[in-house]
Amino acid sequence: MATLMGKRILVIGGSSGIGLGVATAVLDKGAEVVIVGRSQEKLQAAERALAAVGKVSTFVADMTQEAEIARLFAGIGGLDHLVSTAGTPPPDYPIGDTDLNVVRGFIDNKLVGAVLVAKHAIRTLKKGGSMTFTSGINKDKPPVPGGSVVAAHRRVVRLFRACAVAGTGADKGQRGVAGLGRYTHVHRTGRRE
Ligand SMILES: NC(=O)c1ccc[n+]([C@@H]2O[C@H](COP(=O)([O-])OP(=O)(O)OC[C@H]3O[C@@H](n4cnc5c(N)ncnc54)[C@H](OP(=O)(O)O)[C@@H]3O)[C@@H](O)[C@H]2O)c1
Repeated sequence: MATLMGKRILVIGGSSGIGLGVATAVLDKGAEVVIVGRSQEKLQAAERALAAVGKVSTFVADMTQEAEIARLFAGIGGLDHLVSTAGTPPPDYPIGDTDLNVVRGFIDNKLVGAVLVAKHAIRTLKKGGSMTFTSGINKDKPPVPGGSVVAAHRRVVRLFRACAVAGTGADKGQRGVAGLGRYTHVHRTGRRE
């Protein structure tokens, strides 16, 4: 059975909510964790809480900013796994009241940000490593109001399925999809799939 003991895991969004839960769980299994978010204060508070569980460090970066994400992966060294739960709550108003700046911000964070992370993370992943991006149950059952925007979550899953299947570029298809649903999991297999 696969073990997380001694593995290096990056959790983007690890300073609160679902990501903090993921970080706690993998530390508890003996992994070493780097948590990423935009707010230094939130990261420090999370680090203090997580230090009681295991070996944790922090990195401030905004996943919508390519220079910050490039800097993160340029300096991080080899990774066993990456999990990104980062995101903001979707807009919750009727389509007739839509504020396009809010919509663009939401999609930039959850969709474009995930692409950016994958672009820079892929070469830091060790053989057998994986990238997991979460969306949410609302992608299948969009709420009212706000459903039209939340449905864009679905794109994260579709996009990474395509990304994994089309992994025939620079590193000759060393990526495959190991699970799909409310999350997308891109697994670096070391063989063409
Ligand atoms: N909680 C639920 O039940 C649930 C269920 C389904 C889906 N979701 C969705 O999942 C996402 C996360 O939910 P959550 O409850 O874990 O939220 P949360 O407690 O607000 O945590 C979000 C995390 O992502 C980070 N983050 C946000 N934008 C970022 C960015 N651009 N770059 C880097 N880090 C960023 C936040 O830190 P900073 O703010 O410091 O950057 C924080 O660490 C949301 O999009 C939410 O809508 C949540």
